[in-house]
Amino acid sequence: MTRTVVLAGTSGYGATYLREIAELEKEGVLRLAGLCDVRPLVTTAQPQFGDRLFDSRLDRLLDLTRPDLAIVSTPIHTHLPLGRVAMDAGCHLMLEKPPAPSADEWRALDGLARRNAVSCQVGFQSLGSGAYARLAELMADGTLGEIQGIGCYGAWSRDAAYYQRAAWAGRRELNGVRVADGALTNPFAHAVATALALDGSTGWDDIATLETQLFRVRDIETDDTSCLRVSTRRGTVITVAVTLAAQTPGEPVVIVHGSRLRAELHYTQDILVLDGQPEQFGRVSPLRNLLAHLDDPRTALQSDIAACGAFTRVLDAVSSSPSPRLVDGRWLVHEGEGLQARTSVRGVEQSVRASAERLATFSELDEPWAA
Ligand SMILES: NC(=O)c1ccc[n+]([C@@H]2O[C@H](COP(=O)([O-])OP(=O)(O)OC[C@H]3O[C@@H](n4cnc5c(N)ncnc54)[C@H](O)[C@@H]3O)[C@@H](O)[C@H]2O)c1
Repeated sequence: MTRTVVLAGTSGYGATYLREIAELEKEGVLRLAGLCDVRPLVTTAQPQFGDRLFDSRLDRLLDLTRPDLAIVSTPIHTHLPLGRVAMDAGCHLMLEKPPAPSADEWRALDGLARRNAVSCQVGFQSLGSGAYARLAELMADGTLGEIQGIGCYGAWSRDAAYYQRAAWAGRRELNGVRVADGALTNPFAHAVATALALDGSTGWDDIATLETQLFRVRDIETDDTSCLRVSTRRGTVITVAVTLAAQTPGEPVVIVHGSRLRAELHYTQDILVLDGQPEQFGRVSPLRNLLAHLDDPRTALQSDIAACGAFTRVLDAVSSSPSPRLVDGRWLVHEGEGLQARTSVRGVEQSVRASAERLATFSELDEPWAA
């Protein structure tokens, strides 16, 4: 069966969808009916998709094309208005993460999916990893023993260009509208969502307590170096410590501390390390999983909008926390100039890792830059 789709948001992360749609068209399971963007289609996509309908308004495009699905890969604060138009037109929705910049907007999206009886998949692609599925199995069948906690760490580096690429980058709000583009809620949102999902704690009420420690090294509104600790209703302690100001970046890791075995999930690389032994897995993309779910509802959605409650509660708490504190200049290292300029925190890679190993916050670890 060939389903029809429109894509809203054609550059930035939308380029990933253009590539995937091209693959799915070749396989004959999807046909791109039209594209929506407030900017012209990027020149690299012209040869492949220049002949398709293009409109700057999603409602108009949906009227003209009446597709089965819509993909929304636009800035976070546009997810609800565009998602509403798509779901009210009866489309199943592939919505990029984080699903919404506030709890009310997430509830509205969840309500729209229910009311229109459509599926809404959120783009937490880590939840489609075979390594994630295997780890969830090993936790459930007792192989790891009693789960003593889940600690995540991530250390990336972002240059000035990253914050200048879009008006919403590094903002808590834009023109009075919530954006929530902090390290925990956007670039490392997968770490938060993955840890919560591994614990089976995806509902809004599954979180019992929540603490945040938010810092920044740049002139931005949001956090770029942050620590979160949650205890879930089932009694698991989850920490997520991340930075976008690392001197030596590395891929993020979710550590599951079991009483018998320790597991490490390298969720961007589909690698599971069990007792020191790495194993490589494959993954099913959120879009392919959505199509499989539509073919056969017994295939569960990897990341249903309804299962984003606990994640959204974290996002809401981070966004309502006091403004992130600027790290004192004596702990910072500046490299490069102009759009290539980077700022890093001395030793922050060790700090985020120690947090995940000990399930501790930055202040409990006595990190000097966080004092
Ligand atoms: N899953 C992932 O790993 C991943 C990675 C990066 C970004 N994302 C998510 O993808 C989404 C888009 O991020 P981005 O960095 O590509 O954003 P962006 O600011 O680059 O915008 C993406 C595209 O949307 C267009 N756009 C903006 N407003 C629009 C509107 N109202 N209608 C139609 N088009 C509109 C822009 O012109 C642009 O072409 C965000 O939710 C982001 O968090 C996900």
